[in-house]
This record gives sequence, structure tokens and C-alpha cells, in this order.
Amino acid sequence: MNGSNWQCPWLKSLKLGSLVLLSFFGLLACQPESKSNVAPQSDLPIAIKIGHFPPMAVPANRPLTAKRIALGKKLFEDPLLSKNNTISCATCHLTPLAFTDGVPVSTGTEGRKTKRNSPTLFNLAWHPYFFMDGGNPTLESQLLGPIEEHSEMDLPFTEAMERVANHPEYPALFQAAFADGVNPFTLTTALSTYERSLVSYASAFDRFYYQGDSSALSPSAQRGLDLFVSAELQCQSCHTFPLTTNFSFENNGLKADYSNDPGRARVTEVPQDVGKFKVPTLRNIELTAPYLHDGSLQTLEAVIDRYAQGGSQHHNQSEKVKGFSLTAQQKLDLVAFLQSLTDTSSFRKYQ
Ligand code: HEC
Ligand code: HEC
Repeated sequence: MNGSNWQCPWLKSLKLGSLVLLSFFGLLACQPESKSNVAPQSDLPIAIKIGHFPPMAVPANRPLTAKRIALGKKLFEDPLLSKNNTISCATCHLTPLAFTDGVPVSTGTEGRKTKRNSPTLFNLAWHPYFFMDGGNPTLESQLLGPIEEHSEMDLPFTEAMERVANHPEYPALFQAAFADGVNPFTLTTALSTYERSLVSYASAFDRFYYQGDSSALSPSAQRGLDLFVSAELQCQSCHTFPLTTNFSFENNGLKADYSNDPGRARVTEVPQDVGKFKVPTLRNIELTAPYLHDGSLQTLEAVIDRYAQGGSQHHNQSEKVKGFSLTAQQKLDLVAFLQSLTDTSSFRKYQ
């Protein structure tokens, strides 16, 4: 594994035993598994196609099936995967809050705090890399992060696997979903399959913009949309439709000091990357306060004010963040547009 360490900074945080196991099962090398990657006959692959989104990139050896999604959901909500059986993925990623948790930073095992604000997990299937600094290449490798991370679930992955394998219910569910037992491939695939199934695409904005339903947005939200795409505000140049992100790393200058968290520079160690973060999606933004990587801004109005001021003039700040002035009504309009990105219809499937 030595040779790939430099390409995969996230590997540094993994416990050695897990690395050996994962490479044994071909997970890190992305080798297809001989058995587990074929869905049982009774559980046919599901294709999620959203007309106005780019095609969903599902790895060929991890097709989405109903049984895998249901198994992944059960695991996502199960505190079994944490050291003291107290924390599950859902502790910090709550469905009614679009899979965030409503606080600036989250609390994990034994009261330890995370460094960053919990992000939404909708539309992960389209992300080219994970974490706000992009330091993790795939959904499958990402989820080893929270399971093993000291401030999150704090459980060696090998132990997580043993617990699931010795559980009264899980082994049969794995057999039904994978025709195979609990191993690194099936455990990570169950969780990542559930994560890929979390899609949000049916907001009022989608009905207005892509389905031509002119009554879907209020006049105020329509004026807000015009502002959002305007050459002056340039919001859309980073928060690009339809996913409302172009996934680039940008310093939007909303903070003056990034010494607590250098963002992308944590991975690249390049000074020009200090304060750059993966552009976050704005879908369901109404439900995911507080905002920014550290949860330091409480409201959408506060975020807009910071952009209007032209940021903090950090030396790496994007030249697209130049400042602008809005009337009180225009600010309400922009907020109304951001609220039109809420899509509670998606949530019902996951409750
Ligand atoms: C203690 C709180 C906590 C727990 C438990 C937790 N997360 Fe997270 N999650 C976070 C925080 C905080 C981040 C932001 C980390 C970052 O970007 O550096 C995050 C980031 C993520 C991301 C990256 C999203 C993106 O936009 O790149 C995914 C995916 C994710 N979590 C899935 C999970 C899964 C799956 C589990 C359970 C195995 C889990 N999380 C458990 C708090 C938590
Ligand atoms: C140069 C690219 C860029 C432009 C232009 C831009 N943003 Fe952002 N936006 C970002 C980045 C990067 C973040 C995350 C920064 C962080 O966490 O520190 C962000 C964060 C946000 C957030 C908080 C998201 C969250 O989940 O916490 C909101 C809301 C937002 N932007 C709205 C807007 C609006 C409205 C505009 C136009 C006035 C705009 N953005 C223009 C890159 C941009």
C-alpha cells in the first residue's frame, strides 16, 4: 500500500488492520468481487434516472437494488457501528433536516466534537470526491472515515464487521441482498447504495425551471432566481444548476481567518488552496442551517449579507465574490428563491 499513500490522504487515518483487510478484499483496488457484485435474481437492479440531471454514476459492481438500499438504511440508523453503541450515521445526518443536524458542529462518541458542520447527504451519487476538502475519492472509502474517526463513531472497521456478522438479523439480510456474507465489500456497498439512493430533484424550482410550471414559483422567488443567475451576483457560476454546485474548490471569502481549518489545503498543502472548500449544494438549504464549513452563520440572510459585503477580502478569495447591493425586497426575493430549492417529497421515501 505504500505506493498509493501519497495519492490518498484519507488512508493515513485508517487503522492498519482495516487497510490489510480492505486491500485483501480488493476494495481499495476497486476490483470487482466475484460473488457479491451480482444482485440475486429476486432483487433486480434499479436505475434512478432524473431527466434534468446528468446520468447517475453507479459503479458497475455495485448496482442499486431495493434490498441493498433497505439494508443500508438499517445500518445507517444503527448505533451498533459505534464504539459505545450510542452514535449512528443518522445521529449527525437526520432525515427531516435533509441529513444534517442543525448545530454548528456535531457531537460524536463520548461527547467529542467534529471539526466541521454536518453536510446534507442528498445527491451524493453525483459528487466526484467527498468531504469539504475533497480528501476522499469514493463513497465506499468515505464511510470508513466516520466509523473509525475518534470524534465520530470511533470503532475499528474490522470490529464493526465482526459486530454485524455476529448480529442476530444482519447475516440473513446480507445473504438476501448479496447472496454473500458480511465482508468489507458487502458492508460498504450496503451503506453506499443507501447513500446513492438519497436524491433530491423535485423542488418548486425544478417544476418551474425544468418542467415549465410557471405557477410553481411565487413572483418573489422568480425575481430571486433572476438575481441568482445575474452577472452581478454570479451565484450560479459556482452553485451551478441542476445540482446547484459545480464541485470546484473555491474560497468564497465569507471568513477572514481559515487558520482553524485550511480546507482544500489540508489535502494539497498548497498555500493558494487555503480557505477553499468544495462548493456545497444549495438544495434543501432552507433546512440545513447553520451554514458554512464551521456552521458559523445562522441564517440565509447572514450568508447573503456576507456576499453583499464582498466577503472578507481573504487573499485567496475568488474574484467572482465582488460584493453587490440589494434592496430589502431583493434580499427577500433571493431568500424566497433559495427556499424554493426545498424538496420534502424526497424525504418521505427515507422516513
Ligand atoms: C458525529 C457526527 C457524524 C457521524 C456519526 C457521521 N457523520 Fe458524516 N459527516 C459529519 C461531518 C461533520 C462531515 C463533514 C466532514 C468533512 O467534510 O470534512 C460529514 C461528512 C460526510 C460525508 C461527505 C459529504 C460530502 O459532501 O462530501 C458523507 C458521505 C457522510 N458524512 C456520510 C456518513 C455516514 C455513511 C456515516 C455513518 C457511517 C456518517 N456520515 C456518520 C458528521 C458525522
Ligand atoms: C466563487 C464561488 C461561489 C460563488 C460565486 C458563490 N458561492 Fe456560495 N458558496 C461557495 C463555497 C465554496 C461555499 C462554502 C464555503 C465554506 O463552507 O466556507 C459556499 C456556501 C454558500 C452557502 C452556505 C451553504 C451551506 O450548506 O452551508 C450559501 C447559502 C451560499 N453559498 C449561497 C450563495 C449565493 C446566494 C451566492 C450569490 C450571491 C453565492 N453563494 C455565490 C462558493 C460560491
